[in-house]
Amino acid sequence: MKLKYLFETVDYKQLKYLKDTNNNIDNIKLSGWVKTYRKQMDLIFMSINDGSCHKNIQVIFDNNNNYSLNKESTFNKLSQLSVGSSVELEGVLVKPPSTSKELVEVHITNILHIGIITDRQTYILSKGRVKPNIMRQHQHLRCKTNYFAVIMKIRSRALHALNNFFDLNDFYHIDPNVITTSDCEGAGEVFQIVAPEDKINGGKEDFFNKTAYLTVSSQLQLEAVSAGLGSCYTMNPSFRAEKSNTSRHLASFTHIEYESSFGDLNDLMNVSENMIKFVIKNCLEKCADEYKFLNGYYSKGIIDRLNKYVNNIFPRISYDEAIDIIHKAVKSKKLKVKFLPKWGDDLGSVCEKYLAEKHFQLPLMVYNYPKSLKSFYMKEDKDNNKVVNCMDLLVPHIGELIGSSVREDSYEKLISNMDKKNIAKEPLSWYLDLRRNGSWRHYGGGLGFERLVGLLTMDSKNFNVRDCCAFPVAYGECKY
Ligand code: 4AD
Ligand code: MG
Repeated sequence: MKLKYLFETVDYKQLKYLKDTNNNIDNIKLSGWVKTYRKQMDLIFMSINDGSCHKNIQVIFDNNNNYSLNKESTFNKLSQLSVGSSVELEGVLVKPPSTSKELVEVHITNILHIGIITDRQTYILSKGRVKPNIMRQHQHLRCKTNYFAVIMKIRSRALHALNNFFDLNDFYHIDPNVITTSDCEGAGEVFQIVAPEDKINGGKEDFFNKTAYLTVSSQLQLEAVSAGLGSCYTMNPSFRAEKSNTSRHLASFTHIEYESSFGDLNDLMNVSENMIKFVIKNCLEKCADEYKFLNGYYSKGIIDRLNKYVNNIFPRISYDEAIDIIHKAVKSKKLKVKFLPKWGDDLGSVCEKYLAEKHFQLPLMVYNYPKSLKSFYMKEDKDNNKVVNCMDLLVPHIGELIGSSVREDSYEKLISNMDKKNIAKEPLSWYLDLRRNGSWRHYGGGLGFERLVGLLTMDSKNFNVRDCCAFPVAYGECKY
């Protein structure tokens, strides 16, 4: 029986029955990994968890009672267990003594299978709580710890919530291929794909008859999909050969990208804000036990913080206003920077974090950045040809979470942007074709999902995208 179901049914129905009648429930089968283990003379107490929920169950073996049919062999098997071992057992569900804080406990009658820890001296989880940065060296063991299990469960819930959000808003889920011939952002940080016999390695062949890359963004293909389906999204990974060794950068990350037709910058900001709030709300609601744990130990105050994000409107400011706030903050010594951005410069992560974490203390949207800073596909503002209708969502502790824009729908402007930014037109002839034939107003964005997981589970002290996915791959790091 999965622990989740046991707690759901027993808590409310059978436990009441147990309490009312002083009866036991026989022959429960449980399995899980040992979370805590205590052995006294004739008594073994363990808490076990099977992953189905956050709560552990207390299981007990007492040589002095008559629950077990074969006491000696059961005791011997149980004696081999320790934290991290696996166990499958049969038992009797009993009402705990009134002094116990457990709702329910199990007296073991029989052990079916065990998986022991062969060397407790070297097994890292034998040593109690291990810091997340140390656990990064033991990635295959991370989900056995409470902290990572909680992060992964909230991650899973957030992906479900995103699927639900897009479904409710009539976005189709389409994942374009991650092998592509274009460098979408034009930033040149692409991994090239090389088959074993390819010429590049001194071989004879060229697998694709052209240079192919792992995608840095599925946006351009997704735009083509939206040109018939209206609205669509992907959960593809994106790959970046950026040599950035920071807490925010991965070489491969889950990139939630969305495109929608016949709308403008306001529509883009509305859908982006609604999406983030929908996910936070859903996670708080469905992962209450996980949040209680995070709030108590690793990310104190996270529940209040996330509720604040849900219950407040995300401020929307232009890039010009952002520069103004940053300059004033530096002048009044609220913000220290090595490099003060002037109009036309990137804001940089220190200033981005200042805006979200200190100034607004909320996620905020900065729109209309200088055209020179942004990608060729962003739409020029109709009143000011120096800026484009784009929006970056900046969030506390992390900085940029979403990069997005209205897409340039004029063929001529797109060509001119590509010329100015030195973007090769040949690989993107199909993209230009979409502007020549039936061009349409549309917008879209990309959300770094690991960063969202960070927002949902961590604070500034412990945030690291490497802890927001199961097997992170980053600059200089590919361990598994
Ligand atoms: O701002 P970016 O580069 O935008 C795009 O790729 C657009 N084509 C998206 C679109 O409009 N469809 O990336 C989008 C988001 C960033 O805001 C950030 O959250 C995340 O992707 N991101 C990364 N996350 C982890 N590691 C990296 N190296 C990342 N690079 C970007
Ligand atoms: Mg960006």
